[in-house]
Amino acid sequence: MLISLKSITKKFPHSSGEVIAVDNVSLDVDKGESILLIGPSGSGKTTLLNMIAAIETPTSGQYEFNGNSVPYGNIDAMTRFRRENIGYIFQTFNLIRDLTALENVALVQELSGKVDLDAAKDCLRQVGLDGMENRFPFELSGGQQQRIAIARSMAKNPKVLLADEPTGNLDEKTTHEVFQTLVEMCKKNSITIIVVSHDLSLSKYTSKIIEMRSGKTVDKS
Ligand SMILES: Nc1ncnc2c1ncn2[C@@H]1O[C@H](COP(=O)(O)OP(=O)(O)OP(=O)(O)O)[C@@H](O)[C@H]1O
Ligand SMILES: [Mg+2]
Repeated sequence: MLISLKSITKKFPHSSGEVIAVDNVSLDVDKGESILLIGPSGSGKTTLLNMIAAIETPTSGQYEFNGNSVPYGNIDAMTRFRRENIGYIFQTFNLIRDLTALENVALVQELSGKVDLDAAKDCLRQVGLDGMENRFPFELSGGQQQRIAIARSMAKNPKVLLADEPTGNLDEKTTHEVFQTLVEMCKKNSITIIVVSHDLSLSKYTSKIIEMRSGKTVDKS
């Protein structure tokens, strides 16, 4: 088992009492699985992804990754854990404006300790951006920018890719193209992916659907 969550709960303090964002969730994810995470706004999807990424610490529960406890509470160890294992595509692309497509991808390699421009170019080629390496984000369409974000998240070859509504701002046709590229790239590179979307029609590309409701998960597959 790659990801094993046991009774994970996340509560946030709030002026009118506390919010239970994730409520006693247990979840096992095998290596190579592709999971579509759906659910209404506010149901806890982003919070769950952030705990899997060790960006946020659960209020209670256990999380094992590849058989090891995730080092919540130790900031340096959590950073190392993320660097070694986790790729994350945020809903807002988070591209650096003053860097070209290639430089945006290479930056992630630099942060994880090893720049390999040929591999970075190959990632861009795999998402269909061959020949656009030297363009800046503002010289590209929304769908193309999102493809850079995908290439960037692949460039360090993570074990898990977490994607939070990576196609949220795209039209229907581009959504399907980008989503399919994303899942296929993961399959080809043996990367496990958990991707959030409101679009149930995307489930044809993934191996499993998990739905969140009021902080709890419902296995739909
Ligand atoms: N930092 C925070 N402080 C307080 N409450 C929070 C915080 N982050 C999330 N919440 C609350 O936790 C609940 C779950 O939020 P979360 O962002 O995980 O939902 P989501 O399913 O990703 O929603 P969306 O589809 O709108 O992105 C919501 O009620 C939200 O208001
Ligand atoms: Mg969210």
